[in-house]
Amino acid sequence: MHLGFIGTGTITAHIVRGLKASALADWSVTLSPRSAEVAAALAGLPGVTVAADNQAVIEAAEVVVLAVRPQVAAEVLGGLQFHPERPVISLIAGLSLDDLAGLTGARDICRAIPLPSVEAQACVTPVYPPQPQAMQLFAALGQALPVADLSAFDAYATGSAVMATWFGFAETVADWMAANGIPPADAETYVRGLFANLGETIGDRGRSLEQLRHDHATRGGLNEQVWRVFADEGGADALRTGMDAVMARVSGR
Ligand SMILES: NC(=O)c1ccc[n+]([C@@H]2O[C@H](COP(=O)([O-])OP(=O)(O)OC[C@H]3O[C@@H](n4cnc5c(N)ncnc54)[C@H](OP(=O)(O)O)[C@@H]3O)[C@@H](O)[C@H]2O)c1
Repeated sequence: MHLGFIGTGTITAHIVRGLKASALADWSVTLSPRSAEVAAALAGLPGVTVAADNQAVIEAAEVVVLAVRPQVAAEVLGGLQFHPERPVISLIAGLSLDDLAGLTGARDICRAIPLPSVEAQACVTPVYPPQPQAMQLFAALGQALPVADLSAFDAYATGSAVMATWFGFAETVADWMAANGIPPADAETYVRGLFANLGETIGDRGRSLEQLRHDHATRGGLNEQVWRVFADEGGADALRTGMDAVMARVSGR
């Protein structure tokens, strides 16, 4: 299989590095030339080349992956000539299948939400609709999750928008500790260790999320106390409000 990428930025770099370390390492890749430094670094991998321009990516590729930012998508894609019969996988947040069809003329289009963990072949990637080559690609990069309807896909996109909040949560904990007498570097070391361990624990599918919370909250203990204040004083509601706002944005409501 030959993949072509329009947009050689952060997520493309993660995908290409993940692909080349995966069971699909023999798939070849053609990259668009913008972000020359990223493209040149990736071109050091076997079977990865950089095209002269975006149209040359389309000519080389059996499947085209769209990975430019939403703000420039219409302008970039509108100026290109796609082959209607060749599949298109769009990673562009918020750009609908209808808009993609209008811009590319392609008949076989899907959307996907890969995250940087594709590089470690550890990402669960929703694919809507579950287009075969996209499912094959993202299965090799962790797990491909078939999504049958748009509102579910938008909800996955919303779920993926909490990453900065998770880091901000850790940052707030470390800042609080530093404000309470711990040298900032030590507070950060402690919080990194804590969250890294929790990151491993949450991967244990033997326990539900609710069970994990219970298991980390001794009755009458310190963890239970913080969670109660967080939940009762609007922390959980703030999270839901943020997600409602993102859902409204991604679904165009
Ligand atoms: N980052 C993620 O984790 C992630 C996850 C899922 C989906 N996405 C989606 O993937 C898309 C890309 O995100 P990103 O984080 O990879 O963004 P990014 O790092 O900014 O990459 C965007 C790339 O598009 C290039 N570009 C701009 N104009 C172009 C043009 N006319 N022709 C070809 N390439 C052009 C940029 O080149 P220059 O640097 O030269 O401008 C850059 O290489 C977005 O739509 C985003 O919603 C991202």
